[in-house]
Amino acid sequence: MKIEGRTFVISGGASGLGRACVEDICAKGGYVAILDMNEELAQDVVNEIGGGKAKFFEANVLETESIASAVKGALAWSEQTGKEIGGVVAAAGVSTPAKIIDRDGNPFSLDDFDFVMNVNVRGTIDLVRQCLPHIAKTKPVGEDGERGVIIMVASSAAFDGQPGQGKSILRYCAQFADISEVAYSASKGAIASLTLPMTRDLARYGIRVVTVAPSLFDSRMTAMMSDKVRASLTKVMEFPLRPGKPHEFAQLVTQGIENIMLNGVVLRLDGGMRMPSKM
Ligand SMILES: NC(=O)c1ccc[n+]([C@@H]2O[C@H](COP(=O)([O-])OP(=O)(O)OC[C@H]3O[C@@H](n4cnc5c(N)ncnc54)[C@H](O)[C@@H]3O)[C@@H](O)[C@H]2O)c1
Repeated sequence: MKIEGRTFVISGGASGLGRACVEDICAKGGYVAILDMNEELAQDVVNEIGGGKAKFFEANVLETESIASAVKGALAWSEQTGKEIGGVVAAAGVSTPAKIIDRDGNPFSLDDFDFVMNVNVRGTIDLVRQCLPHIAKTKPVGEDGERGVIIMVASSAAFDGQPGQGKSILRYCAQFADISEVAYSASKGAIASLTLPMTRDLARYGIRVVTVAPSLFDSRMTAMMSDKVRASLTKVMEFPLRPGKPHEFAQLVTQGIENIMLNGVVLRLDGGMRMPSKM
């Protein structure tokens, strides 16, 4: 799928990995509808991109109606610009780290579990589900008749999830990155597992599905990491000995959009790092 001249819907596009995708797609001549809860951050991105190539639509992916009105706005915008919807990057996600039972033997909160599952799984599926009828009606392009691409975000936690809160390093890291626990791992595992059946459902429409599973990536919080914490994390890395950079994530996402042979796959993006049980 050629990025130039197409509109992509990106949830979580106001910050971190989603924001890097907005920047890359716009740099390649695409247009981006940013769906996010954080208006202030999203407007910063829109202003930085400039040229009317990115537009913010407020959405809380926990609420179907909120997604519906943002998708409606994004479609109206794409009609206005004449740049058809080419795909979705579902990057909105959360984590609330907790051990399944705490040190006093109390089980973790089901409300927290539901929250993580609802944002990361239901929110992803709801957004994709609401965009698909429109993508499926776009004019097929190229010799293969491609209509669109769905990019979802899993995590290395789908495969080697960390224990919940415990050591201070895990508590600290959980704020900014992919130090996971039961709910987060379950949610990202679900995204990885639904990639193939979704691919099979959508093949007849010329729509592909690609999931990216990053490990530890820089975000706003990473800048605050102490040398000690960074050194502990570096010990469990292979190469390179550093967290990934958002633009390296965006690079794989744009490749996922552009390379028609990428389909029905979960791509680990982790520099060979495997999260250990203990650090
Ligand atoms: N940074 C990492 O190390 C890392 C690693 C693996 C996977 N991931 C995944 O990548 C995705 C992006 O993470 P990030 O590090 O860029 O985080 P981030 O916190 O920088 O960005 C997440 C964005 O999602 C938005 N968001 C959160 N809840 C929302 C909701 N209910 N409705 C709409 N928008 C909502 C936030 O406002 C924010 O803009 C997430 O799915 C995360 O689980 C991140």
